[in-house]
Amino acid sequence: MKTSHNMDLRAWNTFGMKVSCACFVEYGTVEELEELWKMRHGMSPDGLPSPFLHIGKGSNLLFTKDFPGTVFHSDIRFISVLEGAGHQYQAGVSAAEICADLAADGKMLVEAGAGVLWDDFCLWCAERGLWGPENLSGIPGEVGAAAVQNIGAYGVEAKDIIFQVKCFDCVTGRRVAFKASECGYGYRDSMFKDSAKGRYVVTSVVFTLSSVPVPRLDYGHVKEAVNAAFETAGNHTEAGLSSMLVRNVILSIRNAKLPDPAVIGSAGSFFKNPVIPRSDYERIASVARIEHGADYEVPHYDAGSGFIKVPAAWLLDQCGLKGLVAGNAGIYEKQPLVIVNLTGNASPSEILAVEAMAVKAVYEKFGVTLHPEVEHV
Ligand code: EPU
Repeated sequence: MKTSHNMDLRAWNTFGMKVSCACFVEYGTVEELEELWKMRHGMSPDGLPSPFLHIGKGSNLLFTKDFPGTVFHSDIRFISVLEGAGHQYQAGVSAAEICADLAADGKMLVEAGAGVLWDDFCLWCAERGLWGPENLSGIPGEVGAAAVQNIGAYGVEAKDIIFQVKCFDCVTGRRVAFKASECGYGYRDSMFKDSAKGRYVVTSVVFTLSSVPVPRLDYGHVKEAVNAAFETAGNHTEAGLSSMLVRNVILSIRNAKLPDPAVIGSAGSFFKNPVIPRSDYERIASVARIEHGADYEVPHYDAGSGFIKVPAAWLLDQCGLKGLVAGNAGIYEKQPLVIVNLTGNASPSEILAVEAMAVKAVYEKFGVTLHPEVEHV
């Protein structure tokens, strides 16, 4: 276990902002986490300053000021194929039975520690010809946070491949495991960031992966890009398609439109795509037709129950916000969903000012309130 005081968090927030915390604790095992829980509950002489915050790689966080308490980080890092023995996945059914059933369909369970870098996990899978997370390649952050945030991209969400989430319960001090169906998953949402916020710390995640190809190429231009890469690679049959090829295509699509956090600080999509009543969508569509012509169609997806999801990127773009510069912060020129630390010296208040400008502009033009995807601390 590593403990540091007055720690600079620049490397722990992908905005790359110079913020600090009073205490930073990194643990490497579930047993160490249990020890920390005892400390936190005054069962040990070493108290830790409150409040408490658990972070992953800080890729979906906006520190709005220096953090006065203790920041925890999991360094639990392992990836292993589960065979069944010694595991309990479901009451009344042996783990070996579950694994045997999955194997009959070319599937297997793989467990990854919460502190594994998400993209290292994606690479691990692709190197072994396994299918599952390839469309989620290149997303910054760690495995534990991926399960909390239900990360998503290119038609796939983490919940689609999660079998079980193993956690430490900060209320009871016990280890618990939840099936994916028990995690309250929704669009960029789960019970871990909602109804049970602060209660569970994810320690590892069990994924269902496939050794049989299960390409998911229906989002946007992914299929065309994969076909082009496929032909360049000299393969012309679906059987030759590998999860590594899909991964590489996804990485090149991302690199073309999203900033690399190692170069320009950001937290990826800053806003969620708003889900609005159909009547609001019709109003937006008529504004757009006046501006762009009678045949113009606003990009949208049916969200069911009379609701429509409109890309926040489109709303922001229509407000002319791409490439906005406000002091050291701004909006990424190629993707307006991304607020950036342009110079590397942006302060929390500069990022917040850009957020406020974007929300105001979209509300004034379309009457829609954008909500941040990024968690404000
Ligand atoms: N658009 C514009 N102008 C732009 C960019 C996009 O008008 O400059 C319009 C286009 O019509 C485009 C639509 O917005 O079709 C949607 O844009 P895009 O396909 O880029 O997807 P997105 O809705 O902007 C979402 C996720 C991303 C994820 C991509 C790909 C959210 C908030 N964002 O973006 O997630 O990578 O789909 O699946 O759901 C993240 O969460 O950090 C993230 C990057």
